[in-house]
Amino acid sequence: MTEIPESIQFLHKAEIGLGAWAWGDKIVWNYGSGYSDADIEQGFRISLENGVTFIDTAEIYGNGRSERLLGQFLENTEIPVIVATKFFPLPWRWSKNSVGKALKTSLERLDLPRVDLYQIHWPSPLIPIETYAEGLAEVYKAGLTRAVGVSNYNKNQMQRAITVLSKYEIPLGSNQVEYHLLNRNAEKSGLLARCQELGIRLIAYSPLAMGLLTGKYTPENPPSGVRGGRYANILKEIQPLLKLMTELGQDLGGKSPAQIALNWLICKGALPIPGAKNTRQAEMNAGAAGWRLSPEQVSALDQASESFTK
Ligand SMILES: NC(=O)c1ccc[n+]([C@@H]2O[C@H](COP(=O)([O-])OP(=O)(O)OC[C@H]3O[C@@H](n4cnc5c(N)ncnc54)[C@H](OP(=O)(O)O)[C@@H]3O)[C@@H](O)[C@H]2O)c1
Repeated sequence: MTEIPESIQFLHKAEIGLGAWAWGDKIVWNYGSGYSDADIEQGFRISLENGVTFIDTAEIYGNGRSERLLGQFLENTEIPVIVATKFFPLPWRWSKNSVGKALKTSLERLDLPRVDLYQIHWPSPLIPIETYAEGLAEVYKAGLTRAVGVSNYNKNQMQRAITVLSKYEIPLGSNQVEYHLLNRNAEKSGLLARCQELGIRLIAYSPLAMGLLTGKYTPENPPSGVRGGRYANILKEIQPLLKLMTELGQDLGGKSPAQIALNWLICKGALPIPGAKNTRQAEMNAGAAGWRLSPEQVSALDQASESFTK
């Protein structure tokens, strides 16, 4: 593995983070129904108190509300927080300068002079990878972010971003992709291995498969809304995997299926960033760090998840 540059070592020190997509999002997460700003803030505080200080948001989450809430919460804590946010490749953002403009607006919402990690949310089907990578280089050089990253980039797209950044001797800090026991594409495509070779932190999003891997949803009690549509058909098939996760958790002295799912990702060398809507979820997710499944337990989970994985 390449030596990790000092400027991005902080990304490798974080074991688990907290995702802030649900903070203000009504379309997928039904924000305002079943959880409030107060619940989110308590979840945020409990996370910090339990050592989870890496927070992932994006300009599009809740149309800016997620960043605004994070900015407010940051005012009420003395604990240093690692703030990661993202640039969305809207079709009219065709120049490298759009990256800096968007980041400045995010910084206003967050009420911060700079963020710790600025990521391109998705590769654009219209704008070359190189254009936004040049934009990342500009914001890095301007001191608006401590590190730069990408998200949903495959190996080839990631390499194109690296090629641009390396002209300026800027390391690519991270690549954030969907990765969990029901989607192991990051492993199977060789992306995880490539990130590890290059010292790039692979950040695992939707690490609980949007709540499915907590075991609380069943074929009789599927999640509502968008998630129901996406996942309802596999709830029956994943019951043997969930049973194994429950048993492993019992063997480990009472870990929950959610903690097993998150620790499996930590064992793979990824940084999981589960979302949490309240104190209970945040506390449970924080408890997924600081210990390790055995190699035998990891391979049992690999085997049990093999048939669902892409
Ligand atoms: N880069 C990208 O394109 C991208 C895409 C998606 C997500 N992300 C990032 O990844 C983060 C996490 O992903 P995600 O929010 O999609 O899914 P997730 O972390 O897999 O699932 C989060 C949801 O699961 C439920 N949950 C969480 N912890 C729980 C626990 N301990 N016990 C019971 N239920 C629990 C909650 O919903 P319910 O209580 O309603 O079930 C929560 O909102 C996001 O917040 C975002 O920062 C990035």
